[in-house]
Amino acid sequence: MGQTQTRVSSSDSAVDVSSNFDGIDDGPEKKYDLTLTDKVIAATGPNALPRLAQIMPSLIRHLHDFAREVDLTVDEWTAGVELINECGRMSDDKRNETMLLCDILGLETLVDEVTAHMVSAASASGASTPTSILGPFYRPNAPLLPNGASIVQDLTPSVPWYDEAVASSAYITGRVMSSSNPSTPIRNAIVDVWHTAPNGLYEQQDPEQPDMNLRGRFKTDGDGRFAFYCLRPVAYPIPDDGPAGKFLALLDRHPYRPGHIHFIVSGPGHRTLTTQIFDDCDEYITKDSVFAVKDELVVRFEPREGDSQAQWSLEYDFSLEPV
Ligand SMILES: [Fe+2]
Repeated sequence: MGQTQTRVSSSDSAVDVSSNFDGIDDGPEKKYDLTLTDKVIAATGPNALPRLAQIMPSLIRHLHDFAREVDLTVDEWTAGVELINECGRMSDDKRNETMLLCDILGLETLVDEVTAHMVSAASASGASTPTSILGPFYRPNAPLLPNGASIVQDLTPSVPWYDEAVASSAYITGRVMSSSNPSTPIRNAIVDVWHTAPNGLYEQQDPEQPDMNLRGRFKTDGDGRFAFYCLRPVAYPIPDDGPAGKFLALLDRHPYRPGHIHFIVSGPGHRTLTTQIFDDCDEYITKDSVFAVKDELVVRFEPREGDSQAQWSLEYDFSLEPV
């Protein structure tokens, strides 16, 4: 701290924030009005939503401690408010910029971990497939397709990334199993899948792609099996034309995510699984900009022989937790 004389509160307990005469800064507890935090917490009424009444004291303390610890100025706080406002203005049913901001801060990965921990703590088996974040590009109501169909729509040589799509064409099959003991296949489970085109864009980001391109839902058969054609995923940068991308640049961070395929897998009598699988060949596999990679979700595509529709194949089973 410099020698600026600043009064930070109008309350009686406000203190002078100047440095000591010996040049050693006072700590936050000596510079600022700590009773403010207790007053804000105490303002919660007796009829507050119980979960809010439980968690808000902690949030308020952490927020206030943060502001005191870093000597947050009005200008800096205003910039933060505008960042959040800008995220809200940019968000709609096709883009969730606020979630993207949470993602680059690791918050979605953290709450995903917390939720998964609570589920596994209440579980008898603990052998279900690990979760990963939903991400901001999910769209509900993807086409329900027969097993063996392709989620790649209208691929012709006129498509700018046609050659890349042919070279990365893939066949994915597997089973949806219950993590009960013994493990049993789940019939009529729904495998909801989505990924980007080789240009790194989801269909809602790219006006050149058909609606719902590279998205599909598949229902498992009596053996719990599903199968579909898709593309090997590519690394892509999260959108950098909005506040989350600009914030990454201010932090001198790269925006890339390793190639991945998103899944939501649901089955009767089982907890719905939201996860991703990651291509082990991707150069960003150890430096995901949203910190979502887990070892158990890293996969290896194998060359596929004798199939004109696919150059690569992958077998991957999902395991769902009974409820
Ligand atoms: Fe993604």
